[in-house]
Amino acid sequence: MKFINLIAPLALVATASCTPYKHLRTTKLFGVEVVDTDLVRDARAVISKFDGFLYKHSMRTWLFGAAALNANKTLKASVDLELHAVSTILHDLGWDMTPNSPWVSTEYRFETDGALGAVKFVKGHKDAKKWDEYRLQKLHDGIALHGSPGLSVGKNQDVQTTLLSIGFDNPGQRPEQVPEKEYLSILKGLPNNDITYGTNLTWTWLAATKPAATYNTIVEPWGTAYVPGYNATGHRVFDIVVGALITQ
Ligand SMILES: *[C@@H]1O[C@H](CO)[C@@H](O)[C@H](O)[C@H]1NC(C)=O
Ligand SMILES: *[C@@H]1O[C@H](CO)[C@@H](O)[C@H](O)[C@H]1NC(C)=O
Ligand SMILES: *[C@@H]1O[C@H](CO)[C@@H](O)[C@H](O)[C@H]1NC(C)=O
Repeated sequence: MKFINLIAPLALVATASCTPYKHLRTTKLFGVEVVDTDLVRDARAVISKFDGFLYKHSMRTWLFGAAALNANKTLKASVDLELHAVSTILHDLGWDMTPNSPWVSTEYRFETDGALGAVKFVKGHKDAKKWDEYRLQKLHDGIALHGSPGLSVGKNQDVQTTLLSIGFDNPGQRPEQVPEKEYLSILKGLPNNDITYGTNLTWTWLAATKPAATYNTIVEPWGTAYVPGYNATGHRVFDIVVGALITQ
């Protein structure tokens, strides 16, 4: 009997620790129910200081993703919603053009700055104890992989969902996973008319301020097109491989 009494509380603890991210506080933003923990609120406070286009883009990726998850209960039940929120909200920390931004390095590509910044933000938060190493790795991966299409295949559900959500704000049609009603109310509250302007401006700025971090990345053509003196030739993997072939 003693034995059973001991087992029961242990079983309860085990159940609780298997589902640590459920039953989070929620709120409604632009018609979409989203998680509303202190960590998520503080992540929102970080991006609220950014340029309008960047703030709105970051918010839309979270809200489009949340709307898609709300429309798919099976998927929603298998995703860490707080991780999804923090990953999407902070995914473009590396785009912060504020002089001396604490998020932007001189040497890393923007996705890496975002990943390192988001992990640093969580580790420095009062609720960091709820984040084990695996959860932090998923935060890092979901952000680090977002600038290179095709890398989500085969990743865990959380990272795939983050990458999918970030892609939801690409210019073009409404993503089919996001219900029309929510899609329209998000766009009404957070218009996307400046995102292509902001992307063009930011990527030109990245290529001008840290060219070495842009060779062989999605940003490279912006340097070639718009930055005087930018010259990727010689730095591209193509040049290195073909150059070695020629001198063989
Ligand atoms: C929910 O998401 C899963 C995983 O992406 C997908 O296979 C399924 O078709 C979706 N269900 C609905 C109703 O959209
Ligand atoms: C993109 O940005 C560059 C650099 O600011 C600018 O010269 C160019 O006109 C922009 N392209 C378009 C199509 O607006
Ligand atoms: C770019 O760099 C390569 C390799 O150093 C050089 O051969 C080429 O002439 C340069 N192009 C321009 C436009 O300066």
